[in-house]
Amino acid sequence: TQSRRTLVVGNWKMHGSHAANEQLLEALKAAGPLPADAAVCVPFPYLAQAAERLARTAFAWGAQDCSQHEQGAYTGEVSAPMLADFGCRYVIVGHSERRALHAESDQLVADKAKAALAKGITPIVCVGETLAQREAGETEAVVKRQLSAVIHTLAHCAGEMVVAYEPVWAIGTGRTASPEQAQQVHALLRAQLAAATPRAAQMQILYGGSVKPDNAVELFAKADIDGGLIGGASLKAADFLAICRAA
Ligand code: G3P
Repeated sequence: TQSRRTLVVGNWKMHGSHAANEQLLEALKAAGPLPADAAVCVPFPYLAQAAERLARTAFAWGAQDCSQHEQGAYTGEVSAPMLADFGCRYVIVGHSERRALHAESDQLVADKAKAALAKGITPIVCVGETLAQREAGETEAVVKRQLSAVIHTLAHCAGEMVVAYEPVWAIGTGRTASPEQAQQVHALLRAQLAAATPRAAQMQILYGGSVKPDNAVELFAKADIDGGLIGGASLKAADFLAICRAA
């Protein structure tokens, strides 16, 4: 919205296979020019496949996590330099599934964002409250705390990240935040960014949580919603392309 370009990012989560990806990527490749910036964040083993299929298309590609370390004895981890080696433009950090299932702290998420930026990869930093937190009236405090760790750690580079607001209760549940509920939080996040960086007005703040072709237009029309982070609907080419075209 406004002068900002809309960005639509697919988060495949732990889905896919060589064969299934081939079909999906071919369909994206055939899409032609898009009104939005677009990307897919795929599981690590499929980065080479995505890079090969999406080179010279409207789609960028990225990963769903990275280590905060550059290299070393960290069995099972994948570093930002490795992602850069595969041409990743984006990496999702601090997704609520990682915060919840892998106990990622606000500071760890911030360190991962910093490691990505150091290699020229744009971190997509996820923030969002649980249903219990929303019902307890803690939404604002929770997202502010999550974003503040990243702002402090990135310091003068804070303007380089993408922020994604994903209310945990709206993820994979079919229950979307209303455009008004989402806009309200996005406005708070932008105000927080404005206090920290002169780039706040140009920064993309994405909404994630049950975005589908039939609600994308309304969401993306809101003043501070600059696109979406798409889970389930990014696995179906027709749906994902329809969301990209809702920009
Ligand atoms: O990161 C995207 C996400 O968590 C939303 O998932 O399936 O509700 O679109 P979904």
